[in-house]
Amino acid sequence: MAVIRSVIRGVGAYLPKRILTNADMAKIVDTDDAWITERTGIKARHIAADDEKTSDLGIAAARQALIRSGIDPVEIDLVICATATPDRTFPATAVRIQSELGVTKGAAFDIQAVCSGFVFAMATADNFLKTGQFKRALVIGAETFSRILDWSDRTTCVLFGDGAGAVVLEAQPQKGAREDRGILATTLRSDGRYGDLLYVDGGPGSTKTVGHLRMNGREVFRHAVQKISGVIEETLVTTGYAADEIDLYVPHQANARILDGIARKLGVGPEKIMITLSHHGNTSAASIPLALNQAYEEHRLKEGSLVLMEAMGGGFTWGAVLARW
Ligand code: UT7
Repeated sequence: MAVIRSVIRGVGAYLPKRILTNADMAKIVDTDDAWITERTGIKARHIAADDEKTSDLGIAAARQALIRSGIDPVEIDLVICATATPDRTFPATAVRIQSELGVTKGAAFDIQAVCSGFVFAMATADNFLKTGQFKRALVIGAETFSRILDWSDRTTCVLFGDGAGAVVLEAQPQKGAREDRGILATTLRSDGRYGDLLYVDGGPGSTKTVGHLRMNGREVFRHAVQKISGVIEETLVTTGYAADEIDLYVPHQANARILDGIARKLGVGPEKIMITLSHHGNTSAASIPLALNQAYEEHRLKEGSLVLMEAMGGGFTWGAVLARW
């Protein structure tokens, strides 16, 4: 039976120019390259310039995705920006991205699911495209986490960085068969009982300040492998694929040890897992499209490749997207 699927037409990314290496971090807090590398796999992170906002990063990534898609901005009718570090409390970062790109049709809004934001945004766009409400969507993950870090807290400030990535999705008729291109399944989960394990200690409705990121890293780690593996397995069961049939896993980039744990649990080889965090750290909602972009540039995504994206973040929120390139 013919179906409408959201086909990925283009991908793009942007990282700010300024780089802080682990050696630079050791000048800021009591840490060293050996600890950060061994515990996380991170070697460097990018930091937005003073005059660069989250929307600027998102615009740069979106421009590249649009060029690669061959789709004109005037044909886009949905812009979703996943971010936990918006330019302003309101309006949404997505509306500035929309206007700067010259998109005038349809709707633009932000999604807040922290590190799972890109997965939540892809699922939202996919559902709008499948129902026929919109035709072409720009889905962006953009963050300036450097602005909400406590730069005196070594347990968090070494982990995060700034960046953005974007994809262009287009509603296309497909056969409803196994070889269909586009998004094949999405799985989203949240559990607010874990809200105090990873949060920001400020906000307009509570402290009237922006606040700083706080995390119980050990506890988050403990949940991450189990919850992410669970949502991947659910997505595979829904679609009838085995873990080793996936050509490339493009996970949220938080910690290389979490990614190793997931690979072991699923029984898939490290060559199937895209790991890019060494050069940009944890960029929250931007990390999946940044990794997807690197996979594209390294020619690891061919037409027909099965790609599984997954994430877990504050909330907790977690989820997965299975797509055929
Ligand atoms: O993107 C959202 C999801 N986030 C995540 O997935 C993050 C999940 N958590 C993690 O990635 C890891 O838990 C961390 C990388 C945050 C920490 O690694 P860990 O192996 O769990 O270390 P730990 O928190 O158990 O700390 C071990 C030791 C502590 O010292 P003591 O108490 O054993 O003396 C920390 O004080 O390491 C110390 N430590 C550091 N030492 C040097 C913590 N941060 C640092 C640091 N440099 N930057």
